[in-house]
Amino acid sequence: MARIRVLDADTVSRIAAGEVVERPAAVVKELVENALDAGARVVHIDIAAGGLERITVTDDGCGMEPGDAELALQRHATSKITAAEDLEAVRTLGFRGEALPSIAAVSRLTLRTRPAASSAGTVLETEGGLVLSAGVSGGPPGTVVTVRDLFFNTPARKKFVRSAAHEGAMISEMVGRLALSRPEVAFRLTVNGRQVLATSGSGDLLDAIGAVFGAAVAREMVPVRFEERGLGVSGYVGRPGVSRSSRRHQVFFVNGRYIRSAYLGAAAEESLHGAMPAGRHAVLVLHLSVEPGMVDVNVHPAKHEVRFSQPRDVYVVVHRAVREALHREIQIPVEECGHLESACFPGAGTGFRIPVQVTFQGGEPELREESTGYQGFPQLQPLGFLPPAYILAGGADGLYILDQHAAHERVLFEQYLRTLEQSAGKQLLVPVMVEIRGREAQTLEDYGPFLRQAGFEVDPFGEGAYLIRTVPSFLRPGAEAVLLTDVLDRLAGERPVDADAFRRVVAAVLACHRAVRGGDKPAGPEAAALLTDLGRCAEPYLCPHGRPTLIRIGFPELARRFQRE
Ligand SMILES: Nc1ncnc2c1ncn2[C@@H]1O[C@H](COP(=O)(O)OP(=O)(O)OP(=O)(O)O)[C@@H](O)[C@H]1O
Ligand SMILES: [Mg+2]
Repeated sequence: MARIRVLDADTVSRIAAGEVVERPAAVVKELVENALDAGARVVHIDIAAGGLERITVTDDGCGMEPGDAELALQRHATSKITAAEDLEAVRTLGFRGEALPSIAAVSRLTLRTRPAASSAGTVLETEGGLVLSAGVSGGPPGTVVTVRDLFFNTPARKKFVRSAAHEGAMISEMVGRLALSRPEVAFRLTVNGRQVLATSGSGDLLDAIGAVFGAAVAREMVPVRFEERGLGVSGYVGRPGVSRSSRRHQVFFVNGRYIRSAYLGAAAEESLHGAMPAGRHAVLVLHLSVEPGMVDVNVHPAKHEVRFSQPRDVYVVVHRAVREALHREIQIPVEECGHLESACFPGAGTGFRIPVQVTFQGGEPELREESTGYQGFPQLQPLGFLPPAYILAGGADGLYILDQHAAHERVLFEQYLRTLEQSAGKQLLVPVMVEIRGREAQTLEDYGPFLRQAGFEVDPFGEGAYLIRTVPSFLRPGAEAVLLTDVLDRLAGERPVDADAFRRVVAAVLACHRAVRGGDKPAGPEAAALLTDLGRCAEPYLCPHGRPTLIRIGFPELARRFQRE
């Protein structure tokens, strides 16, 4: 890295100024970004008490010479830019020369650093920004920054900090994003001595997604690779079946920098319009590469936001990138799609509920809500069964092909979802013994209350053994143990955060077990029933895992194929 220099007053005045460290997670972000700018391949973050007691970030990057180490703690001292013009094409994460002095000012900070070429390193101890001691230190090449007693001298700021658990969770989320920004770097986060996150540094983004969001999410990701208008988009989008109730699982990086952007989220989600249940959000990890001149990173003091010179282009390209990926992967029927921005399902997104009057014998009429499913779900006439797994059906606008298994899974999923909302569970005559250990045992404990609400009562029965006492009423006898372990496995991977997301995970696992496997059953009266049931679903076009349940070959397409035009 270049030598550190103090920026001139003119350059300093052009840098978006403001609070750099308002909470422990911001300290972690700044220290890790410094490590990444220093070319680190391995970064270890270790925190105690939500980062308030101690944050240590260790890297194997280029380290600093003794003179640079002292300069690094001065305001506006940076090795990353030298003049105001450089602000227009910043390629590093840092550029203000503010992070280390701002952190040092509100903590007791120790900087230990050694360039690989030097045999000895430097150690500096500071308190409230004042250097207490400077000396020579040993240790491996790279840099270790330890921040103790954050905000010890600024009680006002400390008031805004939440509990250690909350701050720790924010740090985990921050480290997760940083890890997703650089799959080629091995990250490790330990909290109070316990490892909570580790990425391999293999360079494969999907590996990093698995480590951060869980293997179950990683399995459902579709690759995105797209380039247009000088803009590259790469990364992954989750199949609609792995939707989330918030946008926390949508992360965007612009030239390797994490940014917050509802705008990009909207661009990506427009591609999924109609495939995503209302109020649910896709999982997304997208890297945008843009010419540094086309993006201004100097708009927010914490560098969370960027400004694009051509925002509309960025919107369109992100939208197309996601759409192209999903269509390639799940082949949503597209041939009758009139124009780019429209949804591709007939009547997509218009599912609605109307109150239906039902009269009970001898009683007062009662209002009940009945889902009408998607308005415009086609009237379908079963035509036959095509082995191994397809039902052919005729509609007013062409031929429909149903994947029997996927369609049945959707129907069961919605049934189970409704039942799980009310389930009291069915008592087993003889409790079933099941062995649950390690991660699954932890999951059982974490989700115990949710599981009980859904009808699963499971009690510990000594060393790794549990007794299943009740299960949801619709479970097949004999399958209780297998289903419970599958449910725990999926919960451990997906970590749903609310009761609604929890039920969706459980219903998807159960639906998958019960659904007819392709080819098990011939079409006939059953096919007609399945078509009707599917038409009543709230989201009939995708199975719970996001694969299509039916595809359509429209009459225009048939006419074209038979050259009747
Ligand atoms: N882990 C590290 N390894 C090597 N050099 C580092 C490390 N951390 C900081 N430095 C050096 O110290 C300088 C000051 O760091 P600091 O984070 O304060 O500012 P910056 O990264 O240049 O800009 P910003 O304030 O935007 O982060 C950096 O420019 C870099 O040269
Ligand atoms: Mg920095």
